[in-house]
Amino acid sequence: MSVARKGHLRIGIIGAGSIGSTIARRLARHGHDVVIANSRGPETIGEAALRTGAQAVTAADAVRGVEVLIVSVPMNRNADIAEYVRSAPDGAVVIDTSNYYPARDGSVRDFEEGVPESVWLSKLFGRPVAKAWNAITSQSFDAKASAPDKPARVAIPVAADRDEDRAIAMQLVEQTGFDAVDAGVLAESWRQQPGSPVYCTDRTRAEMPDWLAAAEKERVPQRRDLAMEVIGDYVRAGGDPTDGRFLVAVNRASYS
Ligand SMILES: NC(=O)c1ccc[n+]([C@@H]2O[C@H](COP(=O)([O-])OP(=O)(O)OC[C@H]3O[C@@H](n4cnc5c(N)ncnc54)[C@H](OP(=O)(O)O)[C@@H]3O)[C@@H](O)[C@H]2O)c1
Repeated sequence: MSVARKGHLRIGIIGAGSIGSTIARRLARHGHDVVIANSRGPETIGEAALRTGAQAVTAADAVRGVEVLIVSVPMNRNADIAEYVRSAPDGAVVIDTSNYYPARDGSVRDFEEGVPESVWLSKLFGRPVAKAWNAITSQSFDAKASAPDKPARVAIPVAADRDEDRAIAMQLVEQTGFDAVDAGVLAESWRQQPGSPVYCTDRTRAEMPDWLAAAEKERVPQRRDLAMEVIGDYVRAGGDPTDGRFLVAVNRASYS
């Protein structure tokens, strides 16, 4: 049976940080069979990931028999998990949440700025990927989930090359509490990368298409670096780097 037609999925997650843990908690609560791994071992995975029924496993076990594999590790750690991603079942839908920041991820091997991050990752993994959950701060992801009928529900863009990958990724984004917006194919996913108008700006489904279209490819990395300078300056002056309202305000001001 096609994964897209099934309601209840076996989902593996590699990466149990703020994003991976929140995804695990929400999707397990939704009734999916969720396993989650980090690099240090299952016993180190916190209850934020596990409290609704997700199981902590090793990275090797996180890919075994899954229908969906969500990869949520820092960009410069993806090479370390590539072998696991390659060994996931052929039919599994792989969804990536990564963002590339040159200052932080300088050690990413062979990454070429200008190639969309998920296109590069798809080559690294040797299989198609969908891009989702990258364009929301961990603070908004934690605090702003809401029911589908809520006015001004925050939206998350999803890019993919294959219809089934897109359908599954959008379904799962909705189940984590956000409107999912089709942002097109992976080659266009620079439109949702750091520095783009929809990146961590908490736009709604109605607003997002215009902001996706407004993105300018050359300016996206410039605006990413500008926003990082502002955030760095704020932190050096004693500001709280986890202040989600500040981060969204800076992103909106920098990218709009
Ligand atoms: N934070 C945000 O606001 C945000 C928003 C959207 C998207 N993202 C992106 O989503 C991804 C995850 O972000 P995050 O903030 O959740 O990261 P994080 O809090 O730093 O957590 C990263 C997770 O990846 C795991 N990991 C690293 N190397 C691994 C390996 N070789 N094998 C298995 N697990 C490994 C870490 O496990 P150990 O601790 O055991 O090493 C940790 O659980 C990043 O690409 C980030 O750019 C972040």
